[in-house]
Amino acid sequence: MIVPSGDMAVCRRAHEVLEAYLGTCVGVALWDREAGVGGLFHALLAEPLMSGSVPAEPLRYASTGLPLFLEALEEKGAKPSRLEAAVAGGAIVGPGHDVHLDLQIGARTLERVELFLKATRIPVVLSETGGTFTCCLRLHCHNWTPEIIPVGTHFFRPEGPPNHCRPSRESLEKAIKDVKPIPQTAFKILALLRSETYQMGEISREIRLDQVLAAKVLALCNSPVYGAPEKIDSLDRALVFLGEKRILQMALQVFLSGVFPSRVGGYSLCKGGLFQHAVSTALGAEFIARRLGMPQGKAYTYGLLHDIGKIVLDQLVAESAPLFYRKALHGDRPLKDIEKELFGMDHTQVGALLVQHWNLPADMADVISGHHRSNLNGEHATPQDVALITVADFITNRFLAGSQLERLDPRPVIPALRRCGLSSEVLEKMIADMPLGLMRQQASGF
Ligand SMILES: [Fe+2]
Ligand SMILES: [Fe+2]
Repeated sequence: MIVPSGDMAVCRRAHEVLEAYLGTCVGVALWDREAGVGGLFHALLAEPLMSGSVPAEPLRYASTGLPLFLEALEEKGAKPSRLEAAVAGGAIVGPGHDVHLDLQIGARTLERVELFLKATRIPVVLSETGGTFTCCLRLHCHNWTPEIIPVGTHFFRPEGPPNHCRPSRESLEKAIKDVKPIPQTAFKILALLRSETYQMGEISREIRLDQVLAAKVLALCNSPVYGAPEKIDSLDRALVFLGEKRILQMALQVFLSGVFPSRVGGYSLCKGGLFQHAVSTALGAEFIARRLGMPQGKAYTYGLLHDIGKIVLDQLVAESAPLFYRKALHGDRPLKDIEKELFGMDHTQVGALLVQHWNLPADMADVISGHHRSNLNGEHATPQDVALITVADFITNRFLAGSQLERLDPRPVIPALRRCGLSSEVLEKMIADMPLGLMRQQASGF
């Protein structure tokens, strides 16, 4: 069972394995062997910004979540004096760069956790904190054994033959052409979303044209994340219940879900991981754009397509898998540099070529090619457009970790925050308010 950020799970001895994927978040496993009770808590931030206030979601914070976690364990029969702990996560922003950071959110969350465990005298028997890469904290409940593993290592086969040869320019171009084409309706929906001037009639007309699409959109509307009071059985009701924008987003996601790989492997750390990352980043970007007063529709579509180049490179990973995973997981270089070395191009360059191949507007290519860069060299997107996606990507990677392989270069994050006019305090407030449930679950209905 996966424990998402800002949540906890407590269980009695059972054949259950609790897991938390941790980037900047901090995971705490506690267990009482004798009582046969244990659990996992996944803290997003150190404490609410307004200290002393009772936050709406106390489990998002170490300071307010840990006492609740302890209480839940005690309720099931655990005794604090018998508890043992394992702690993981709190990743620093980047590998070895001297990025001055007030952005060391993970370190502060970790500090809070350590203070709490010290005050409650709970011994830490396993700890792996402050790294630069995503890890998974597991608690095996049948024998109360904790485990911390770097995410993605299950793909890594050190004994595999290193028969790598860099793919030729032709095979890259072929891989771009081999990407499943997007139907015309999807392009229309994308344009509608970007224009933000759509009308209900227009939307239902486009969606009704495609019965499979309409059925999939309805199925998504009925997923538990939206909490519909009763079954939604018509597009008109769906439009009223969720609004035009959400329905358009869902329709676009239905089309794009067919383009993204659905298997585990390549860049995806879980089934459909790349697509989940795309949807989370899109919703995160939309949320940030709303806060900053920037166009939300464009931000959403930029987020959805920002890593589209990875679906091309994903086809080529198999050829060089041992080298790719070894370098991506055990080095300290950004993934983008490793891609360039192994494939001759990185996912931002390939992604820009793919959207050009699809004839999408030129600003999309600029955002895609610039989202891991400090300086913008496109002419069609504004520096703020690009910066917004850099920030949304950073948040998704660090606070909704575990869906896809990415060793983020932290250097562009600081100027991007500045370009968006975001201080570390505002950023933290934003992370605290993000619709994490929606960002996590909207992609899982596919
Ligand atoms: Fe990226
Ligand atoms: Fe990304």
